[in-house]
This record gives sequence, structure tokens and C-alpha cells, in this order.
Amino acid sequence: MTQMTLEFGDDLDARLLAGLNPQQKQAVLHRGPALLIVAGAGSGKTSVLTRRIAHFLAHKELWPSQILAITFTNKAAAEMRERVKHLIGDEASGMWIKTFHSACVAILRREADRLGHDANFTIYDSGDSRAILKRIIRDLGADIHKLTPAGAASVISNAKNELADAESFARNSDLSDPVQRVLVEIFERYQAELRRNNAFDFDDLIAETVYLFRAFPDVAAAYQRKFRHILVDEYQDTNRAQYALIHELTSRCLSSTTLLTREPVS
Ligand SMILES: Nc1ncnc2c1ncn2[C@@H]1O[C@H](COP(=O)(O)OP(=O)(O)O)[C@@H](O)[C@H]1O
Ligand SMILES: [Mg+2]
Repeated sequence: MTQMTLEFGDDLDARLLAGLNPQQKQAVLHRGPALLIVAGAGSGKTSVLTRRIAHFLAHKELWPSQILAITFTNKAAAEMRERVKHLIGDEASGMWIKTFHSACVAILRREADRLGHDANFTIYDSGDSRAILKRIIRDLGADIHKLTPAGAASVISNAKNELADAESFARNSDLSDPVQRVLVEIFERYQAELRRNNAFDFDDLIAETVYLFRAFPDVAAAYQRKFRHILVDEYQDTNRAQYALIHELTSRCLSSTTLLTREPVS
């Protein structure tokens, strides 16, 4: 198939809307501050999202750099990029079609100095995290409480996904309970080690970006101005930290618009 060139006209418009049902067309053409699409799997939510991006770009309503499209997996992000590219060609190449994690990595690399990190910070995967936790548990003799690296990793991960740092985790723990007391100590040591190594773990990527936006309103404002349209696919899968991230990117900026898609609650 030959690649479409980006020339605005009835042809292109017809092609961008071709095969969509009336509700989908309405969602692609809708202009307004926010739009939530709730529809079942395979019903055409991602199609609406990609056509909407194509429509914005084809009509020069937005530059590619003003759009942030978020998905959950690298595979979904690559697919979405392909689908937009198929619709309008290379115009989409400067666009941020990213996972929550990769969007946060890009933001954190630019703004790392604000958080006291180096821009070339390391990202620890779950294996790295567990190796550190294993050592900390051994050093603390915490294995007498039957604490495993995987168990501690899960406690820390859940806390971070609820936007709790080591300090607030400690505040909300029952320190008369020896297991909780040792978990607090593990969390603190683990976080200190990450900082010493100029590293973030996966959960930090999102939590630290939320913290960055909350602690530095000028940074948040710059990204709110940059991203005029934010699209989140499969919104039902967002955890609290991811929800907060989207909220921080959109809350104070009246000129930005949002599209969320999600599956119905079953
Ligand atoms: N209105 C429509 N009529 C027929 N097929 C459609 C329509 N909208 C989308 N599709 C097709 O249905 C499949 C699923 O669409 P997709 O947008 O990925 O759904 P969802 O994101 O809701 O799971 C795709 O192959 C897509 O091309
Ligand atoms: Mg989809």
C-alpha cells in the first residue's frame, strides 16, 4: 500500500472517518475539554483514539509535539504508532506515543537535577530490586520474620503505587509490630541505596514524576502547556500513581483536553 501524503481535503477526511460507526465518528470529531469513551474490548476504542490523533494532525489543530498518547505496554504503544502512521504517514513521528513508564523516563531525564538525580540515572528492574532487598534483609537479620525479597518488593511496590514514600509508609505503619518495623527499615535502606546509585525502580518512575510536578509547579506548568491533548487508552488499568500523573498534567491547564478510553465495569 502507498503511504498517504498529508494533504488536507475531503478525501483525507473521508478516509479518516471511513468504516467508523456514528458514535465513533462523533467521538473523533468531538471538541471540548474532556471525553471519556466506555466500550467493550474489540469495540473500536483504540481506533477512535488513533483516528482522533490523525484528525487533529491532518487539520493542523495541533503539532505532533503537543499530543501525548499513553498506553500500558510497549507493544500497545508500537501498535498505536503504526496505526497513526498508517493513517497520516510520518507526520506522527515527533509525537509522544508512550507507556506511562517511558513517558516518565523522558520527563525525569530532562528534569532529573530538580530531584537531585543525574540525568543518566539507572533504571532497576525487578531483578535488581530483589538483589538489593535480599542483601538488606540479610544485613538486618529480617529473615527471622520470614520476610523474603519478593515479599518486601511487593510491599514497597504497592506503597509506591499509592504514592507513599518511605517516610509516609513509616508514618502509617504500626511500629509496635516488629514485622512492620523491619519493613519500614527495609524500605528506608532500599530507597537510600537507590539514591546512592543514582537509580530509580519501575514504580519510582511514575511516583517521582508525580512528586516532581507537585513539588515544582513551574515544571508541571511547562508540561501542561506543552501537551495540549492527552489521550489515555485502557484507562481502567491505571493505578493511583498513574491517575495522579494524568491529573497533574491536566488539572490546572484549561487549554488542554483529554480523551480517556476504558472498558465497562463488569
Ligand atoms: N466501526 C467499526 N466497524 C468494523 N470494524 C471496526 C470498527 N471499529 C473498529 N473496528 C475493528 O475492530 C478491531 C478492534 O478495534 P480496536 O480499536 O482495537 O478495539 P478496542 O480498542 O476497543 O479493543 C480492529 O480490527 C478495528 O479495525
Ligand atoms: Mg484497544
